[in-house]
Amino acid sequence: MELINGKEVAALLKDKIALQVLEMKENGGKVPHLAAILVGENGASETYVANKVKACEQVGFDSSLFRFANDISEKTLLEKIQEINDDDNIDGFIVQLPLPKHIAVDKIINAIKPSKDVDGFHPENTGRMVKNLPCYIAATPFGILKLIEHYNIETKGKHCVVIGRSNIVGSPMSILMARDGNPGNCTVTLCHSRTQNLRQFTLMADIIIVALGKPGFLTHDMVKEGAVVIDVGLTRIEDSSKKTGFALKGDVEYDQVAPKCSFITPVPGGVGPMTIVALLENTLKAARKEVYN
Ligand code: GUN
Repeated sequence: MELINGKEVAALLKDKIALQVLEMKENGGKVPHLAAILVGENGASETYVANKVKACEQVGFDSSLFRFANDISEKTLLEKIQEINDDDNIDGFIVQLPLPKHIAVDKIINAIKPSKDVDGFHPENTGRMVKNLPCYIAATPFGILKLIEHYNIETKGKHCVVIGRSNIVGSPMSILMARDGNPGNCTVTLCHSRTQNLRQFTLMADIIIVALGKPGFLTHDMVKEGAVVIDVGLTRIEDSSKKTGFALKGDVEYDQVAPKCSFITPVPGGVGPMTIVALLENTLKAARKEVYN
């Protein structure tokens, strides 16, 4: 069993990005600038956004954080997005999800200029992804592709089971693994909450990607010997022994599943750190106008 060390790979890739930023600066180019919009006071979102801002500093990007109270109107939020769309100094931006219930998420995402949509959530980018055209790939699936690539995990012709069909992870992941590319060229089964006898599919899987948000969902009896297991789950579980008051638990019952795997991601330190690097890469591409020009 080999542990997929996302923390280590992320650090390596961040160093590479930092070098490229230095080079851009030396050549008199513009410093990449990522902006984030954070609405309300969701603890997990606060942490994610703080980590994104910190990562920008680490690689030499400029960053801006726009914070709004939970009761911000949809109209004000749309106006802010328009302002950022028009701001030539900002190369890419994200609206941290989830948003409060009174705001229509799709309306917000559709308002983001596709060329600045470094989260890859706009239908223009999703559509381009499906058609294998230049696009921003959503950070979590993009980070997972990078991990698979880094560890030279063979995907061509393999059976990949994705569990979870969210817009952010499961759905794009299933498309990316099936695409003609490397990583890619898998036969993909997309399982979700309505799948009957899910175990019959996971037992056939060479690669399992779990993105459900159900701690410990994938157990040893669901995994065949030698499988690759990628755990996207990151649920906060109360734990008074921790400084923060909570521990992070993945969707995989790690201790029992790991011995059966050829590769497995831990939680934390697996997929999590890679999502941030993927976002940085998208921002670098935005600054260089590599996807849209
Ligand atoms: N919420 C959970 N994951 C993400 C993400 O990748 N981007 C944004 N904007 N919000 C999220």
